[in-house]
Amino acid sequence: MNAIMSKTTDKVGALMLLILTACVSAMSASAQEVTWSGEVAAIFQEKCQECHRPDSIAPMSLLTYEQAKMFAPVIRYRVENRVMPPWHVNPQIGIQDFTNDRGLTDEQRQTIIAWVDQGAPEGDSSLAPEPLEFNDALVWRLEEQMGSAPDLVVESEPFDLAAVTQDKWFRPSTPTGLTEERWVKAIEIRPKNSQSRQVVHHALAFLMQQDDGKRGLPDDVDIPFGPSLFMEWAVGKAGQIFRPDTGKLMMPDSQIMWEVHLHANGERVPDAQVELGVWFHDEPPEHRTILSMLDAQGPNSLDIPPNEIAVTRGTFVLAAPARIENFQPHMHMRGKAMSMEAIYPNGEREVLSFVDNFQWNWQINYVYDEEAAPIVPKGTMLITTAWHDNTANNPHNPDPDQWVGWGDRTVDEMAHNWVDVTYLGQEEYERLIAERSSAAR
Ligand code: HEC
Repeated sequence: MNAIMSKTTDKVGALMLLILTACVSAMSASAQEVTWSGEVAAIFQEKCQECHRPDSIAPMSLLTYEQAKMFAPVIRYRVENRVMPPWHVNPQIGIQDFTNDRGLTDEQRQTIIAWVDQGAPEGDSSLAPEPLEFNDALVWRLEEQMGSAPDLVVESEPFDLAAVTQDKWFRPSTPTGLTEERWVKAIEIRPKNSQSRQVVHHALAFLMQQDDGKRGLPDDVDIPFGPSLFMEWAVGKAGQIFRPDTGKLMMPDSQIMWEVHLHANGERVPDAQVELGVWFHDEPPEHRTILSMLDAQGPNSLDIPPNEIAVTRGTFVLAAPARIENFQPHMHMRGKAMSMEAIYPNGEREVLSFVDNFQWNWQINYVYDEEAAPIVPKGTMLITTAWHDNTANNPHNPDPDQWVGWGDRTVDEMAHNWVDVTYLGQEEYERLIAERSSAAR
């Protein structure tokens, strides 16, 4: 008995000591001086200034100490709540390796918060990093990597945007002019000129085409095709090069349907325009990547009562083994959160991604790293769950007393999950799984 007692006391003692040490080190961390010149400016250069500078999309610049200091309280709020930078996937749940991650690390977030809490001091300005130089020349950012200009360029029709007006969503269609099938290796969208860059908040290009649902897929897979999201443009996003063995298929007589979100900035822009550059494979690649719309709730069946949080859920069963390339939730003003979960044929479940902090004005595509993209067996079920917050607690909610249904307008709702699925043959699936497990060893 005694022995047990003393052991327990020892344990408690050890625990106390641990807690004490933890407290002391936490105190010294928060007591450590954090300054603009010492730590914060470098984080802002890496994670904020692409957008927060003149001629880009954010409402204010965060290039200098004076600018950042002026916004310190609101910066703290946005950073602590993971609203800024715009990267809203939960950092504790699901896959965390992305090709386009622009989130803050935990340490960066804590550093910014500590800096504001200490009164946002400048520190020794001679220690501050050199200001960044931004290249605003209109170039195809993928040109260097691809080794040539795009093989095909498709331009949206120009839009005449008034100096002062509400946000506009412009949805023209443009023929691609293709007369034969082509396999796409890479895609990039950009604003067509510098005036457009200042007013195009983001742009989506949908590929509209006749497709029999069999081309380029494993034999037993037959998928119905609707319009497919082809590419999206947002500041800081250079475009997408598909994995070497995969591509998207463009058919003859296809069209690009655009959705350009325009935000007036005080000067009229008579020719707001975006363009799409496409690089082709010379030979058909081994696999076809297909963008699939995994609805939590499909058209006309979304039903969100006033002053409630509504949860909807949809399933999608993979007709063949596949690699899941990304997660892109799409909702409107009441959108609050969305998750994608897999249930495997052996009954195991796994949350792949969870955007717990959805911001309707940011349509972000979370693209998994090659090594992290799940490779899943035939029969895997993907479950998309959407939460819509139609209460007064949602700061974006224009009217919590409205009943809300499915629709195009931003005051209506949607609950889509856009996922690029690369279907694999059974043998290839087994080979990739074997490669992964030997790499893990
Ligand atoms: C991809 C572009 C982008 C990046 C990167 C970005 N921002 Fe923003 N930021 C915006 C845009 C656009 C807005 C205005 C729209 C909105 O609030 O979503 C904004 C709004 C803000 C606001 C609110 C301003 C106000 O007056 O209410 C703060 C604060 C802010 N950003 C801080 C930051 C900080 C700090 C970082 C880096 C850690 C950052 N942002 C990174 C684009 C960006």
